[in-house]
Amino acid sequence: RILIFDFGSQVTQLIARRVRESGVYCEIWPHTASLERVKAFAPRGIILSGGPASVHDANAPTAPEGLFGLGLPILGICYGQQLMCQSLGGKVETHPHREFGRAFVDVDAPCALFRDVWLPGAREQVWMSHGDRVTSLPAGFKAVAHSEGAPYAIVADEERRLYGIQFHPEVVHTPHGAALLRNFTHGVAGCQGNWNMAGFRDAEIGRIRQKVGKGRVICGLSGGVDSSVAAKLIHEAIGDQLTCIFIDPGLLRHGEAEQVVATFRDRFNIPLIHRDASDVFLGALEGVTDPEVKRKTIGRLFVEIFDEEAAKLGGAEFLAQGTLYPDVIESVSAVGQSVTIKSHHNVGGLPENMKMQLVEPLRELFKDEVRMLGRELGLPEEIIGRHPFPGPGLAIRVPGAITREKLAVLRQADRIYLEEIRKAGLYDKIWQAFAVLLPVRTVGVMGDGRTYDSACALRAVTSTDGMTAEVYPFSFDFLNRVAGRIIGEVRGINRVTYDITSKPPGTIEWE
Ligand code: XMP
Repeated sequence: RILIFDFGSQVTQLIARRVRESGVYCEIWPHTASLERVKAFAPRGIILSGGPASVHDANAPTAPEGLFGLGLPILGICYGQQLMCQSLGGKVETHPHREFGRAFVDVDAPCALFRDVWLPGAREQVWMSHGDRVTSLPAGFKAVAHSEGAPYAIVADEERRLYGIQFHPEVVHTPHGAALLRNFTHGVAGCQGNWNMAGFRDAEIGRIRQKVGKGRVICGLSGGVDSSVAAKLIHEAIGDQLTCIFIDPGLLRHGEAEQVVATFRDRFNIPLIHRDASDVFLGALEGVTDPEVKRKTIGRLFVEIFDEEAAKLGGAEFLAQGTLYPDVIESVSAVGQSVTIKSHHNVGGLPENMKMQLVEPLRELFKDEVRMLGRELGLPEEIIGRHPFPGPGLAIRVPGAITREKLAVLRQADRIYLEEIRKAGLYDKIWQAFAVLLPVRTVGVMGDGRTYDSACALRAVTSTDGMTAEVYPFSFDFLNRVAGRIIGEVRGINRVTYDITSKPPGTIEWE
């Protein structure tokens, strides 16, 4: 296994991802970990990530004292390279011209890092992002590649198996970067490469058991991919020491609550508390029209009701959450410690002062890896492949005041829309698709009668992370079919529009 020290780079998780993709187990640790812990973990190799700091900063992050003397293979990337070179007696200088983006390196000498990938004399594309650079090497090191902006683009002390790279091999803009990392993990560090998601599951089950012992764990289950995978994994680890709390705010889509209960309680025998709290939520939301007030009200109620249900259970030592790597904002503060829960961490929202230890078995994974793990755990495809769904649910898809009646109308339209999307084989091509019930009534004619009913908008976007989004280009036939079905089958809707706003300038949700 490989240990990655995080110095705060935006792309540290990509290093981990590449290592896992090459079949090697790895963990990301804060750079503040002790040397004893490193020794106990017994990695075959260590990777030092990049980071925003300069080694000359007053509080520049450092590696554990003695790390470079352990005799383990170490690969320093960007800041990691600078830190390694400086620690071992080299020199790092701040350069007036930051190098950022695509660059080319000239390969000067053979090196185990690019064996069978790059040949001496070649010019290779890489991705640079740095202000500082190494300007003089520690004893034992030599430069094996250079670029215009970095005389020491790759440095190596093959004897001690210490390597430093100024550019970022983990990003896709370094075309052979994954091969270089693989050469480090497999070639230099001697990893076998036989790890896979089944291995992750087994290792994580071990870690959960060790952490939880005989303690009790509660897990807020929303029915989404992340909390579902976390709950199933934890249940495999500790069985009925886990209780899931599923709060139904009355704002879920058609059939969703039933599916959560059927899957987790009936099929997987996971202890599940199903609290129908629709009266409480819809009561509190009565007459509320401001989207932020809706969000805050819903967030607060999730907290209160979750608390209430947890108290009925007699409390618990551990709180499980399906936090993913991209959710982890403060990576350095969080490994293996008890932390105060932050509101952004959880879909349901939990009290800021709640002091339970967190169990977050997915915190090093990306969404697609969580889906792989979910398949490994035997979760049904409808849950694993499900589109993202916002915590406030349908409340933010009924602009203006919410009523039970409006929600019921929206649910029908949304169900038909998603049904047609699945039927057309488009569900997996779309990031998110849903209907919005507009607070607008328009005149129509059906049969021989005049109608005066609501309009509904359909939304479908593609995206990789929800930060930006493009409208999905349905065929006219498809839209026509959906509109015909909705108007024909849903009482209360007599007009359908398709929202063609991208994000930005629009947002994905309407509120
Ligand atoms: P927007 O509408 O901001 O949405 O473009 C981006 C992504 O975030 C989801 N979303 C939310 N998720 N609580 C959530 O848990 C919220 O209040 C919330 N608002 C938006 C949205 O569904 C999309 O996937």
